[in-house]
This record gives sequence, C-alpha cells and structure tokens, in this order.
Amino acid sequence: MEKVRLHDKTFKKFIPYEKLETAIDRVADKINSDFEGCEDIPVLLCVLNGSIMFTAELMKRLRFNCQIVSTKLTSYVGTETTGEVKQTLGLTADITGRRVIVVEDIVDSGNTIVALKKILAEKGAKEARMCTLLLKPEAYKKDVVLDYVAMEIPNDFIVGFGLDYDEIGRNLKDIYILDTEAE
Ligand code: IMP
Ligand code: MG
Repeated sequence: MEKVRLHDKTFKKFIPYEKLETAIDRVADKINSDFEGCEDIPVLLCVLNGSIMFTAELMKRLRFNCQIVSTKLTSYVGTETTGEVKQTLGLTADITGRRVIVVEDIVDSGNTIVALKKILAEKGAKEARMCTLLLKPEAYKKDVVLDYVAMEIPNDFIVGFGLDYDEIGRNLKDIYILDTEAE
C-alpha cells in the first residue's frame, strides 16, 4: 500500500519495513556489544503502546538474558503533543537495583523520556539507558543522552510500526508520513 487513509488524513509510505529491519539490526548489534556476557539480567522497558513492534523486533536480536517490563505513558492527542505526560500504567515489575534499557518508538519533544528518567530514578533503577527507533532531531531539545538511536527523521507526523494517529495505524508494517498534498 503506497497510501493509507486514517480518520480524516492521508498518509504516504515513508520508511519500508526492510529499512526498519536494517536499522534495528544495527542498534541491536550495538546493544549486544555493550551487554553480551553481562552477569545481571537487564530490563527492557517497553513503553506502551507505541513500542510494541520495535520491542518485539529488538528483543529477538538480543544475545543476553533480559526481562521485559512495560509501562504506559500518554501525551499525544491527534497529531500534537499536549506537553503533559501521564503515566497511565505503572511499571509491571520491580526494577530496583536493575539496569534498564528504555525502548521507545520515537523521541520528539523528549518530554516522555525526561518523565521516564525521573520515574526510573524514583523506583531505584541502577542505570537507565535510552533506546529509540526514531528521533526527530529538530524537535528534541532536552539533555537526556540517547544511547541507541536506530533512525533520524524530519519533524513531521508519522504512523505505522506501532505508532498511531488517534489509536489507529499501529498495525501498519511500514512507516507512513502525513501526505500534505492530499489535504
Ligand atoms: P515526546 O514526549 O514529545 O518526545 O513524544 C513521545 C511520544 O509521543 C512517543 O512515544 C509517541 O508515542 C508520540 N509521538 C511523537 N511523535 C509522533 C509521531 O510522529 N507519530 C505518532 N506518535 C508520535
Ligand atoms: Mg510512545
């Protein structure tokens, strides 16, 4: 499918699944070189719902024992961030004293990862690293270090591969971008 219609908007194909796979291979190699042979069991923190597909693709490439924990944070309404991050599902396991790799779908303003860093520090994580499938460098103005970034994209609204437009489009295998010409 080259174009998809979601609610009132049209989106066109932007990043094919094969490109996502290559980018995820690269980021998984980097994580493996940092963690392979570790004696602890690091936590992969899946930030619901957007990160489900990325977490699944990433975890099957990791060559060390890890535990999957989830949490849910919400800030977007439609195609805009509200600027306010709400934790709508707490951490699904105790992470005290653990090394945590946060697995995000996309870092935009960075509000979500700043909130996550704070939550993880309060919950007593030993270390928190940030991994994201996508980064919008033009939008990101925070100081939190992004340890693992699979791909950088322009500051436009995208959907697919877990990302949604008002809760639809998550099931798309490829990533699509808002088609402004179609409006
Ligand atoms: P931030 O807090 O502004 O960095 O935004 C992070 C969250 O907003 C991400 O985890 C996504 O769930 C959502 N988000 C940001 N940009 C997009 C986008 O282009 N499409 C869909 N969701 C997005
Ligand atoms: Mg998200």
